[in-house]
Amino acid sequence: MDVLVIGSTRGTGNLVVHHLLERGHGVRAMVRSREQVSALQQRGATAVRGDLEGSLDGVVEGVDAVAFCAGSGSSTGPDATLRVDLHGAVRVMDACAAAGVQRFVMLSSIAADDPMRGPAAIRHYLAAMHARDRILATSGLSATIVRPGGLTHGPGTGRVQVGVPTLAERGSIPREDVAAVLVGCLERDDTIGATFEVIGGDTPIADALDAVADRVS
Ligand SMILES: NC(=O)c1ccc[n+]([C@@H]2O[C@H](COP(=O)([O-])OP(=O)(O)OC[C@H]3O[C@@H](n4cnc5c(N)ncnc54)[C@H](OP(=O)(O)O)[C@@H]3O)[C@@H](O)[C@H]2O)c1
Repeated sequence: MDVLVIGSTRGTGNLVVHHLLERGHGVRAMVRSREQVSALQQRGATAVRGDLEGSLDGVVEGVDAVAFCAGSGSSTGPDATLRVDLHGAVRVMDACAAAGVQRFVMLSSIAADDPMRGPAAIRHYLAAMHARDRILATSGLSATIVRPGGLTHGPGTGRVQVGVPTLAERGSIPREDVAAVLVGCLERDDTIGATFEVIGGDTPIADALDAVADRVS
């Protein structure tokens, strides 16, 4: 499968690139600057220039799926959240629809189901995630929406918990495990239509995705 990874240069998206290549998939990594191209190409990905606040010309054409892992970050303020995380993502969805790219896996956030109960400091972000997830779920694309708890840089465990933890039990999860979950979803059409929370846990990722798929069907 050829996958466009958006947010490929850092964090979870960079780990998604790694997992996809390791599992024999083709990766088209979207990058914003010329300097980022060679690092990704050296790892075996194809790089394409694109910006969620700028041109997305030609970025999605010809791939089989999109993994959306980008974000403006917590220090950029509500305006960037709207421009990048919400409007940028919707523009990618529109580009997919126009190009006939159906499969779309979204890295969202825990508590996006109920943003107004989230901490005041990130309510705008959760509201953007909520709107984005709703738009994707009703877009007609073949979507899976993954809502992790707090992301850590800890080593991957290969084990997670899926379900709907309350806000009080928000939990955390290594980016490495989130990346494995996102790639697992891309590889499993039976997760199409699913929206689920995921935090660190004891269940092997494949078994957790079986449970996700059971809930869809
Ligand atoms: N932090 C948490 O605890 C948490 C919890 C749940 C969900 N999430 C979600 O997970 C996402 C990923 O977080 P992360 O920490 O793994 O990643 P990250 O290190 O914040 O990396 C963000 C990625 O987005 C890209 N990006 C930013 N603005 C862009 C733009 N205008 N156009 C194209 N690409 C752009 C960055 O590219 P550049 O290198 O070019 O800047 C980078 O590759 C967050 O954005 C958030 O939505 C986070």
